[in-house]
Amino acid sequence: MLRVENIKHSFKTGNEWTTVLHDINFTVNKGEMVALLGSSGSGKSTMLNLMAGLMKPTEGHIYIAGHDIVQMGENKLAEFRRKHIGFIFQAYELITSLTVRENVELPLVFQSVSPSVRKQKALALLEQVGIPDKADLFPSQLSGGQQQRVSIARSLITEPSVIFADEPTGNLDTRTEEEIIAILLKLNQTLKTTFIVVTHELEVAEQMQRTFSLRDGYLINNPPAAADAKSAEGGTG
Ligand SMILES: Nc1ncnc2c1ncn2[C@@H]1O[C@H](COP(=O)(O)OP(=O)(O)OP(=O)(O)O)[C@@H](O)[C@H]1O
Ligand SMILES: [Mg+2]
Repeated sequence: MLRVENIKHSFKTGNEWTTVLHDINFTVNKGEMVALLGSSGSGKSTMLNLMAGLMKPTEGHIYIAGHDIVQMGENKLAEFRRKHIGFIFQAYELITSLTVRENVELPLVFQSVSPSVRKQKALALLEQVGIPDKADLFPSQLSGGQQQRVSIARSLITEPSVIFADEPTGNLDTRTEEEIIAILLKLNQTLKTTFIVVTHELEVAEQMQRTFSLRDGYLINNPPAAADAKSAEGGTG
């Protein structure tokens, strides 16, 4: 479903180029939930932003559902992202002047979906993330954990193929973190949406199906998927 091939990325600061990702290769299967683990500055957000098509790598290819997003032109990529990619930010990034329900509906406003269908879908998702009673409130009236639930619902409303989450529990206390991770795990199970979750916490990563680890821009841990491991053993299942 997602294939990262020979990705290298360098940033220019002043006259110097610094390479922050070196020859990264990995594959994520449809419906998997994987963690991208690494300490601060290891390149997690850069890798995630490249995979979500928010920036272009210096070298390499990134295939999502068979399409190389690196090769895509700006307009096609924007459309592809709207249809296939969801994103959850550490700081929620909700629009303060819109209600909770309007925030969740927002990605559909740019598509030809009728207001009544939009509303129905948003309310169903708010139910799934456990805050059906908050639909008419504004983000400022919610706790951090509740705001992150809204942003999770928003990321799901277009039924994307893959959702990228950059430290989705980074601003939350431990108990709320556990609740949010439990919601993501449940959504992955029920909706079969592919999730790629950036974290620097081993306890969070351990709950995912696989963990890819970055250190200083190098991928140091690339475990096989459960299905791949089985076939590699040569067992008959
Ligand atoms: N726009 C930029 N210009 C120059 N250097 C950058 C830029 N963005 C990131 N970097 C550098 O790339 C490296 C990786 O940064 P990145 O944000 O991907 O790390 P991270 O693993 O997400 O860290 P954190 O856990 O602190 O969020 C860092 O050394 C950072 O300074
Ligand atoms: Mg980061």
